[in-house]
Amino acid sequence: MGKTNRISLTLCTITLLISQGLIAGDLERRQAKRIHDRLTGINAPNATIDAMESLLVAEPITGGKSAAQFAIDPSLNPAAWSFYNVTLKNFAAPWTNEEQTVFTPLNDYTATVIGAIRDGHDFRRILYDDILYVGNASGIGSYSPSNNNHYEALEALDPAGNGNLFDTLQQTTQSAVSPLPSTATAGIMTTRAASMAFFSDGTNRAMFRFTLMNHLCTDLEPIKDVSRTPDRVRRDVSRSPGGDSRIFLNACVGCHAGMDGMAGAFAYYEWDYTNDKSDGSLLYTEGAVSNKHNINQDNFRPGYLTTDDSWVNYWRNGPNYLLGWSDNRLETPLFKDDKNNTVGNGAKSLGEELANSDAFAQCQVDKVFETLCLRGPAEYYDQDRVVRDSIVNNFKTTYNYNMREVFTDVAAHCKGN
Ligand code: HEC
Repeated sequence: MGKTNRISLTLCTITLLISQGLIAGDLERRQAKRIHDRLTGINAPNATIDAMESLLVAEPITGGKSAAQFAIDPSLNPAAWSFYNVTLKNFAAPWTNEEQTVFTPLNDYTATVIGAIRDGHDFRRILYDDILYVGNASGIGSYSPSNNNHYEALEALDPAGNGNLFDTLQQTTQSAVSPLPSTATAGIMTTRAASMAFFSDGTNRAMFRFTLMNHLCTDLEPIKDVSRTPDRVRRDVSRSPGGDSRIFLNACVGCHAGMDGMAGAFAYYEWDYTNDKSDGSLLYTEGAVSNKHNINQDNFRPGYLTTDDSWVNYWRNGPNYLLGWSDNRLETPLFKDDKNNTVGNGAKSLGEELANSDAFAQCQVDKVFETLCLRGPAEYYDQDRVVRDSIVNNFKTTYNYNMREVFTDVAAHCKGN
């Protein structure tokens, strides 16, 4: 027998043994490293990888979830801080600005997402609750509704030390630290960061569009529906752009019928600033519609005039029923009109309408796939879809919308082989 043959025979035997699980360790070690790397973005201490490897060996084939739980638990893994300070911050940062960039300082929106995930809260709350996370490290000043200094000072601390968000983030309410009444709070939508990005200038429709993109994972273009009634389309939208009313009926209505109906919820909000947006603060004027909701009225006088903060979801019916609207409510009462469209007043009830949709649940899972598996729905393998659907289902039922379960499930699924 020649030398080459003998080598390939040996390799072949090793491969066979590994595939039968007879030589444990090598595969599991690689998987442990991959899980740790994807969750935290940093190299793990050897002791962490040893422990995660044993957990993987103990639960072959389907395993990985307990190794992932180990990786994000600071009482077990000294590198776990990076999951909170780096991975979760980068997860949420692009949702907090119009450019969708990750290169933005820590702010009240990102801190609230990180805190809600750390604490395993029902993640629907981020769209409607009176919730906020601040840092309790010393020397960083207190939260201010009119600047971001608190969070920038927190971010300047040692992330593995006193600036470690796992330890320092503390839950409070928006109404406790800002002039907003609790009824006017709507999770991240009424954070300072989101208000500055999406309530400043414009017509407040941006808050609706970006909430849809960031939390239902769709922009308006793919869900245009020209078959809805245009009775809530505001006066600033011309009914005959370029002198052609067909354009209004075939294009503009597709977005504006549904969007203007829902964006009415934001009628009492305005980002108040003089020269520099970043020095402004959120202004809430209960009962007084902000001017931007009724600008350029002469574009079409008979159009909808905003007189209060009522909203209607015409997309409950028609093709956008596919977003999977639900009658579940935890905070605000459910109301419907005689055509079975949901109606309400203000951002909080609109937030619940959005948060209870199937699209919201699936979007959270897809975003975690993107973060940990480095592929989104367009690149999914068939098996990804099966796993994604089952995680979404658990997220809504047994997991009670706890994102920690989603992160650990997805990390296990993408552990590699
Ligand atoms: C794909 C969805 C979509 C379609 C189609 C659409 N719009 Fe809009 N429109 C938006 C969004 C989103 C905003 C808010 C933009 C922002 O402020 O970021 C907006 C804002 C506006 C505004 C307010 C601009 C301002 O800030 O003062 C007007 C006026 C308007 N649209 C008119 C029209 C007209 C007329 C048509 C048809 C030719 C049309 N839109 C078609 C989505 C759409």
